[in-house]
Amino acid sequence: MNYVILLLAVIVMAAAFITAPPVASAEFLAEHIGYMLRVTARLAFALFLLAYIARPLAELLCSRLVLVRHRRYLGLAVALVMTVHFGYVWAHLVTSGEKLDWLTGIFGGAAFVLLWLMAVTSSNATRLKLGMAWHRLHLVGLHYVWLIFLQTFIGVALTSNSSWALVMSALGMVALCVRLAAWTAQRFRRTA
Ligand code: HEM
Repeated sequence: MNYVILLLAVIVMAAAFITAPPVASAEFLAEHIGYMLRVTARLAFALFLLAYIARPLAELLCSRLVLVRHRRYLGLAVALVMTVHFGYVWAHLVTSGEKLDWLTGIFGGAAFVLLWLMAVTSSNATRLKLGMAWHRLHLVGLHYVWLIFLQTFIGVALTSNSSWALVMSALGMVALCVRLAAWTAQRFRRTA
């Protein structure tokens, strides 16, 4: 099942690549890149949300959700899909001649670095070796990546009439509420 998650992510991206405006034609290249940027961002966010709510949702429902078992591979799939997003960001900058503004470069770049750091440290052995540092990296990384996704989707929703961006922004807020509810319930249990 674990590898199936990665395989499904690859299949969705391959299907998007096939149905995207043709990459071979210079006329459609910019459209192809824009399309793939949006598909990779949306796919990565869907996978990210599942990993983001897995543990808190299981805690709230007091059950062992199947999502918890597959959290690591959901995270790896996010890193994989966002690496493709990174490739298309690169292609976009090279082909459009657009200058990357420093704010996007630093804050967006930090999100990629955190995603890759979380991916390379996502094994039991590294978790044990790094101890608290591992927990801090994954907690900070998770919330930072959530923030960059939400900031981008809300920005798109406000500046265009993209219903996708609106739905994604709403789902991101619901996911945050799930985490806050689980965190609050845990604190109540400790003090009860
Ligand atoms: C240097 C960093 C980055 C650059 C320059 C960049 C650039 C872009 C571009 C050009 C688009 C397509 C906009 C369009 O045609 O509609 C896009 C879409 C998007 N990117 Fe990135 N990106 C970066 C990093 C990231 C990161 C780290 C994340 C999330 C963690 C992210 C999430 C998104 C989202 C959510 C969309 C919008 C998808 C939609 O319209 O539905 N990006 N990005």
